[in-house]
Amino acid sequence: KNISLIGVPMDLGQTRRGVDMGPSAIRYADVTKELMQLGYTVEDLGDIEISRFEPSLEQEENLKNLVQVTDACSLLATKVDAAIQDNSFPLVLGGDHSIAIGTIAGVAKHYENLGVIWFDAHGDLNTPETTPSGNIHGMSLAINLGHGHPLLTKIHHKYPKIKPEHVVIIGARSLDEGERVFIKEHGIKVYTMHEIDRLGMSRVIDETMAYLKHTDGVHLSLDLDGLEPHDAPGVGTPVPGGITYREGHLAMEMLAASRMVTSAEFVEVNPILDERNRTAVVAVGLIASLFGQKIL
Ligand code: ARG
Ligand code: MN
Ligand code: MN
Ligand code: MN
Repeated sequence: KNISLIGVPMDLGQTRRGVDMGPSAIRYADVTKELMQLGYTVEDLGDIEISRFEPSLEQEENLKNLVQVTDACSLLATKVDAAIQDNSFPLVLGGDHSIAIGTIAGVAKHYENLGVIWFDAHGDLNTPETTPSGNIHGMSLAINLGHGHPLLTKIHHKYPKIKPEHVVIIGARSLDEGERVFIKEHGIKVYTMHEIDRLGMSRVIDETMAYLKHTDGVHLSLDLDGLEPHDAPGVGTPVPGGITYREGHLAMEMLAASRMVTSAEFVEVNPILDERNRTAVVAVGLIASLFGQKIL
């Protein structure tokens, strides 16, 4: 019952400043207190250092801040790896979604067949060839699957980190053309908003758990933009028509009951774009549900 909190004040995986303050905003919303009330021992390992140093390497337009993102993710992978080694549950606070490259690198070292639940409005399945923006936060799932710049796909000595048949995307409603092709080519399981509306979140999570039953661990990578922007406005790339506050909580409660999740990260909270820290408060509520908080 130990949780290691790791903050990653990363904003270089995209171009809107402020998401580097996400870890502070989530701490300010009392994440440690909430988890302690649920009976956990929480060790806050503080924030990973993000280099603001301009590298001499030429900036590539389709891989913005490649060197800084690589350095931060390598460091993060080491911390996450050590937390698991210590028998602690790594709970990573972002930062933009490029940090999933580091988190999953650290986690995947410990699991032969790691499952990943990618809760997101987006697929984050772009490659340097398909990216419309050059932002690495739109590539992090592809990188974990072994597609992308070798500096990123080979972090922490395992390649690839995960297999396409062990990934479930939940909440997708904004996919680029290259991402659609990637999903089809790799046969990735995706619950878009269409399926969530038709089946209901309860069945989506039941099916997800059944789909991932042959994995030996499950990582939850939760991008707050997966939620409906009315419920979570403080994100850099909001997309209308998202998962509601209630559906989000139901999903977390069902995952808690299943005891399948072995690591998690909550990313893309941007307090500068937020309303009175609402989005960080929502994130902490979801975290509490994921760790077993119940209404009664
Ligand atoms: N698909 C777009 C891109 O590649 C948006 C990605 C948004 N990703 C995120 N983690 N919020 O730039
Ligand atoms: Mn994302
Ligand atoms: Mn997203
Ligand atoms: Mn492949």
